[in-house]
Amino acid sequence: MPVIRLCDVHKSFGRLDVLKGVDVDLRPGETTVVIGESGAGKSVILKHIVGLIRPDRGSVHFRGQRVDTIGEREWAKLRTRFGFLFQLGALFDSLTVGQNVAFPIVEHGTYSKGEIEKIVADKLRMVGLDGIQSKRPVELSGGQRKRVALARAIALDPEVVLYDEPTTGLDPVRADVINELILKLKRELRVTGIVVTHDLASARKVGDRIIMLHGGKFVFDGSPQALDRCRDERVRRFVEGRASQEDLRSLQNRGGS
Ligand SMILES: Nc1ncnc2c1ncn2[C@@H]1O[C@H](COP(=O)(O)OP(=O)(O)O)[C@@H](O)[C@H]1O
Ligand SMILES: [Mg+2]
Repeated sequence: MPVIRLCDVHKSFGRLDVLKGVDVDLRPGETTVVIGESGAGKSVILKHIVGLIRPDRGSVHFRGQRVDTIGEREWAKLRTRFGFLFQLGALFDSLTVGQNVAFPIVEHGTYSKGEIEKIVADKLRMVGLDGIQSKRPVELSGGQRKRVALARAIALDPEVVLYDEPTTGLDPVRADVINELILKLKRELRVTGIVVTHDLASARKVGDRIIMLHGGKFVFDGSPQALDRCRDERVRRFVEGRASQEDLRSLQNRGGS
């Protein structure tokens, strides 16, 4: 049974049709990478998976249970089984590193102070940062902040970890540390992973499977090797970083983005 299943998911914001019938099964223990242009709807897909956005049409399932129709209170409980690494890291600057990682544990668990300290140390060790509990996020580099955010995301031993652009903004070496961590969490914690990225080196390295979102639908679904063999023009353009005639037209007409 898939861990997550999206069935014919449609989502519009006003007149913007972002998802136009998305179907996918995430298999246990696998890391699936979702690629696609900025604004394609990748983050919107992640938010459907954790119940932060509800589909207009279609359904979302977690371990066989339909979850897009359940209430917010049930979702709050269910969400503890997911670890979400947000696009911008989003640490609380007013809290220490230790307090940041402890946050979901304090919120959802019934642990003693000593137990919490142990879990925090374990999770920071997992990301290679034990010992910096008393630092503030502002004292850390971008790569360290991502790793602390990742330690926080796995604080409650999630079954599924969602990574939203985990390597964006990092230099290639720091980005690779994050790639290695994603692989390590899969290996050691056996989590099912879903990674949103437009970093193709990262996608190839961490992905058991790559899916490309384009025009509100998936236009590619296969292994990293299959991606290189895929002849679909939309996929090739993205992989090779070539603008389409349409992209260039908007540039000529009004100097658009
Ligand atoms: N809550 C929202 N309200 C209105 N528009 C949204 C909302 N969330 C996303 N969008 C729009 O949906 C499109 C896809 O967004 P997103 O999933 O964030 O793209 P990306 O693939 O870059 O992650 C964008 O045009 C974005 O502005
Ligand atoms: Mg996004």
